[in-house]
Amino acid sequence: SSPPESQTQPQQLAAAEHGLESVKRKLCRLVASSLSATVPGLDVEPMLEESKAGFGDYQCNNAMSLFSSLRGSSDANFQNPKLPKPQSNWAILNNLPPSDIVESTSVAGPGYVNIVISSDWIAQRIQHMLIYGIKTWAPTLPIKRAVVDFSSPNIAKEMHVGHLRSTIIGDTVARMFEFANIEVLRRNHVGDWGTQFGMLIEFLFEQFPNWEEVGNQAIGDLQSFYKASKEKFDNKESDFKVKAQQAVVRLQQGEERYRAAWKKICEISRNEFESVYKRLGVELEEKGESFYNPYILPVLEELTKKGLVTEDKGAQIILIEGQSALIVVKKDGGFNYASTDLAALWYRLNVEKAELIVYLTDVGQKLHFHKLFSAASMAGWLPDQNEYPKTSHVGFGLVLGLDGKRFRTRCTEVVRLVDLLDEAKSQCKAQLIERLTENGKIADWTNDELDRTSEAIGLGAVKYADLKNNRLTNYTFSFEKMLSDKGNTAVYLQYAHARICSIIEKASKDIDELTTKASITFIHADERALGLHIIRFQEVLEQACTDLFPHYLCDYLYSLSEAFSKFYTSCQVVGSPEETSRLLLCQATAVVMRQCFNFLGITPVYKL
Ligand code: ARG
Repeated sequence: SSPPESQTQPQQLAAAEHGLESVKRKLCRLVASSLSATVPGLDVEPMLEESKAGFGDYQCNNAMSLFSSLRGSSDANFQNPKLPKPQSNWAILNNLPPSDIVESTSVAGPGYVNIVISSDWIAQRIQHMLIYGIKTWAPTLPIKRAVVDFSSPNIAKEMHVGHLRSTIIGDTVARMFEFANIEVLRRNHVGDWGTQFGMLIEFLFEQFPNWEEVGNQAIGDLQSFYKASKEKFDNKESDFKVKAQQAVVRLQQGEERYRAAWKKICEISRNEFESVYKRLGVELEEKGESFYNPYILPVLEELTKKGLVTEDKGAQIILIEGQSALIVVKKDGGFNYASTDLAALWYRLNVEKAELIVYLTDVGQKLHFHKLFSAASMAGWLPDQNEYPKTSHVGFGLVLGLDGKRFRTRCTEVVRLVDLLDEAKSQCKAQLIERLTENGKIADWTNDELDRTSEAIGLGAVKYADLKNNRLTNYTFSFEKMLSDKGNTAVYLQYAHARICSIIEKASKDIDELTTKASITFIHADERALGLHIIRFQEVLEQACTDLFPHYLCDYLYSLSEAFSKFYTSCQVVGSPEETSRLLLCQATAVVMRQCFNFLGITPVYKL
């Protein structure tokens, strides 16, 4: 049988396959061309947003400001102050070039032009995505390679919930970029070169003279080892502190025995970090602080030649306008966090040739990065604001406990990450078993299935609870909230997704075949509203990539599942005359949801 009329032809599809523009971008271009016809020679930015009043799908907000700025101009349309304000509105509307995206336009009050998107166009766009894959909705960003510096715990010190935030948010940023066809260098800038190593190494030598033979057992739990050595270090009566300080120098001078001990300690720490990353499904490449050590001197030489480095009471500093200076060599001649970061930035720009470098740390380090970036700009490493390469500090707030203070558990000072994930999983499993028992479905589940499902839901819940907040704010860690199946939680979304999958399954149709043979048509308003929401995926993602705000994706995902619920309440799917079209809409919703889950590092569950 021949394909239905409305199906877009393959040649057309192939041409559009890469670099499909988002709806918003397309509309912006239409508005831009209207603006240049309305007010030739004036370079006015299109102001376009999702319609709030509900008269259209999008609204153009240029009219008002255009009117006031043109009141006194010589343009006949605008020179008469008695003209009604909607005049500029109408001009914008009338000058919109014809387009197959637009179904209708109208003016609303003096301020807006409403635009209604063509329903056929929405339907075709969704079908195109189903045929060619969601990757055709990748946003177009102006860069090819980025460094994402995230997670970055400190060796031998605890990897705390702050590092968990960095890991989770950083992974999402990296995934969004990767989807947008950017090559991402996922960098774990571990603190493996600090002064703590003198203390640790000296302690190791003292406690275990035969450490090379006993190796890992000697150190055992690195955090307790760190604690014990710190106690000794802080004890004023012993000469340990002095020895520890000498050990740092010997390590940095490359003395064999000290390097070997350093390597061992790093290795143990690395294994611990690795287990967390593996559990979270996060990939990272370690390039720790020590890696950049050889670059510090030449970089500082360059900065000195450029006249940026001055001396201040024995230290070397870079003066930063309006801020305290950036110390690049300490009084004792040693390098610090900032010296390493300067070298790392130089390396990323010049060797790795990254066009965008983003750093994920808590907002407490905002000033450090501000000073670092200012120094780099003064050195001429970074061009003007609107050009690449660019740097960006992606800060985030604290994780708070239910008591409103920094998150801690009762028995330990810091929450061990793995325990936290285990807890989420086991609570999920208990909930799941209870629910399945109530529904009489428990017999359909193997223990292995229960286990994998609880792991997916539990871990997803922890990640989502973090990502859904505006990252700049603090958030309260609450198992009860994140594991609730109501409201904006990953658990709710997993159920919503699994339900869509079961609807599709119940129809027992070959979805791939439907995708190419059938077509989507909207009959009910809620059907169209869902469709419109689906195609907005691309512009939401584009905005999330630009502003580096993962919570845009969560907001989108949640409202998508709400739009789906609304559709499913008012439109029968299986067994209705519109079954095939509606199944395709279900499928598209599920595909988009899964892609969002993927960005958020959440494993989707198909059966619940
Ligand atoms: N290790 C640091 C910390 O735990 C974070 C490093 C962030 N990256 C950087 N290039 N400074 O606070």
